[in-house]
Amino acid sequence: MKKISTVAELGQQISTWKRAGKRIAFVPTMGNLHQGHLSLVSKAKKLADKVIVSIFVNPLQFDDKTDLSVYPRTLDADIQQLSEVECDVVFTPTAEVMYPNGMEEQTRIIVPGVDDKLCGQARPGHFDGVATVVTKLLNMVQADVAVFGEKDYQQLLLIKKMVADLDLAVEIVGLPTFREKSGLAMSSRNQYLTDPQRIQAVEIYRILNAIKTEIEKGEADFITLEQQAIDELKQLGFEPDYVDIRHAGSLEPAKSTDKMLRILLAARLGKARLIDNIACELK
Ligand code: PAJ
Repeated sequence: MKKISTVAELGQQISTWKRAGKRIAFVPTMGNLHQGHLSLVSKAKKLADKVIVSIFVNPLQFDDKTDLSVYPRTLDADIQQLSEVECDVVFTPTAEVMYPNGMEEQTRIIVPGVDDKLCGQARPGHFDGVATVVTKLLNMVQADVAVFGEKDYQQLLLIKKMVADLDLAVEIVGLPTFREKSGLAMSSRNQYLTDPQRIQAVEIYRILNAIKTEIEKGEADFITLEQQAIDELKQLGFEPDYVDIRHAGSLEPAKSTDKMLRILLAARLGKARLIDNIACELK
């Protein structure tokens, strides 16, 4: 596995591969890799000849500067993990490489209709930062396919819309959330949890599934289901941000006639803001 940190060297490697007719898959990350990330890397290898993983903690997408400063940076361990799976290049640019003229001067990508709800409402500017960095990375990597996790479902939809709207020549593939045995969605932010909080955090997946079961049984009063879940989270010691039952494609509030739903949740527990979501597909 090659470690590359400049755009020029990355460009040379990609030209060599393209000339040899190689298909390239890309997995963008912010590092602190876990099995969820690695599941994207193994899927990427199945979809292409060469796999590039980027590790870049993108300051542009952190609305909260404290969150940025404490975000876990574990580059050596990440590179070690990637060298044990089928990754051909790890791209580790610095902020100066990504934003040579500074962040203020950076042209931004805004994806309307996705960035103003759910996590977009709670984290102003967050999705503009994600859309901007992912566009830049996609342009640098020139991949045929890029792989993202459904763990960040709103982010996945945002990227699919952006790629379609801007006619970017890349296929976007979404993969199911990788979970611990307990059901807890793997996340770099789980590190902020104490051992008892980690046990408590399992309630998130249980609550999502309980809502899904109610809907499958015919419950169509979504507002009440959402409110009950918020109350339950509060009782359990979480600070809920939202619990929402949405149309899986538009992320608009679900109607009782909708068939393809997504149940999405964000809540704080101690120092961590945890997000999770599950599909709910009705016949
Ligand atoms: P990061 O949080 O590091 O996640 C990188 C990718 O891994 C994303 O596509 C995310 O959805 C996926 N992922 C995280 N946890 C997962 C899990 N438990 N199962 C499956 N996939 C999982 O998302 C970002 O970084 C950034 O916003 C980024 C897209 C890199 C732009 O900066």
